[in-house]
Amino acid sequence: MGRLQREIFVFILLFNSSWTRIHSEEPAAVRLVVLADWGGVPVPPYYTAHEQAVAAEVDRLARTDGLDLVLSLGDHFYFSGVQDVDDPRFKTTFQQVFSQPSLLDIPWYLIGGNHDHRGNISAQIAYSNTSRRWNFPDLYYDLHFIVPLTNASMSVLMIDTVLLCGNTLDQIEPAGPENRAAAERQWKWISTKLSSSRSDYVLVAGHYPVWSIGHHGPTSCLVKRLRPLLKKYRVTAYLSGHDHDLQFIREEDGTSYVVSGSGTVSDPSTCHRDAVPSSWQLYSSPVNHTAGGVAYLQVPSR
Ligand SMILES: *[C@@H]1O[C@H](CO)[C@@H](O)[C@H](O)[C@H]1NC(C)=O
Ligand SMILES: *[C@@H]1O[C@H](CO)[C@@H](O)[C@H](O)[C@H]1NC(C)=O
Ligand SMILES: *[C@@H]1O[C@H](CO)[C@@H](O)[C@H](O)[C@H]1NC(C)=O
Ligand SMILES: *[C@@H]1O[C@H](CO)[C@@H](O)[C@H](O)[C@H]1NC(C)=O
Repeated sequence: MGRLQREIFVFILLFNSSWTRIHSEEPAAVRLVVLADWGGVPVPPYYTAHEQAVAAEVDRLARTDGLDLVLSLGDHFYFSGVQDVDDPRFKTTFQQVFSQPSLLDIPWYLIGGNHDHRGNISAQIAYSNTSRRWNFPDLYYDLHFIVPLTNASMSVLMIDTVLLCGNTLDQIEPAGPENRAAAERQWKWISTKLSSSRSDYVLVAGHYPVWSIGHHGPTSCLVKRLRPLLKKYRVTAYLSGHDHDLQFIREEDGTSYVVSGSGTVSDPSTCHRDAVPSSWQLYSSPVNHTAGGVAYLQVPSR
């Protein structure tokens, strides 16, 4: 049998219960970068050297191991989001930093963080019509992919944890949702999606972490209401940002948590180390003395 011509990065991008088939000759995996809190600074040049280093690392991954998509989990523009769809920060903090040729055709799927909600979040959604790679169809939504060379399926629930738990302003923990009815509607949506999913792999992704050993630490609202759902429906992993570090936490029953929030700076804080059982703390950039970077996943992992 003749070898198929190598086919990479061909997407059919459709939202709403449709499936995106990722075509590639190998490997049989969806390859994704999870990245949050890359929102630069509100003064010129509107990015940091750390953010540039992160962009260089994403570029390296795209050119070597391969990259199908980026999940961007909030705090895209420090400190108060954007004002409207023409805000120059879309160029100065995003397009001109993640500007490597290898990245121009890779889709980003985004969800809001506390700093995005301080500004005009509708403008970040509307920017999906301006940029081909910026996909932010709604405040929360789901994605479906077919793993190449297999018929395995992977779904991602992109959830808005700021609507669920409230904004943080300057306190450590979110203060409770501003709109309780809207929060309850989203909780219902999450349960319904998880209970009806037939996908082989299910990821849930939002801005605030469930568990974290860093500056903000665990988010009690999510520990209380999201964690039981992750366990009940045996979710593959929960992905988040918010604390400016990298962490991999896994409970005894296998429930897994990734924090990837070192997009703009790398925070060495371990001040909530005692809030998470030490046997669950498999890796964190402050404890394992790495400078930060991005989380890179292949689903299924091999
Ligand atoms: C938010 O951005 C949208 C899109 O640019 C714009 O139409 C709207 O007026 C903005 N809202 C506010 C409150 O500025
Ligand atoms: C994109 O543009 C179309 C057509 O103008 C409009 O109907 C739609 O609401 C826009 N989408 C967003 C996310 O603003
Ligand atoms: C995937 O499903 C299609 C259609 O049902 C089938 O033709 C194909 O052999 C399957 N491929 C694999 C790798 O299971
Ligand atoms: C991270 O550090 C902890 C504590 O020193 C150690 O047990 C663990 O093996 C390290 N993990 C990695 C991935 O290096």
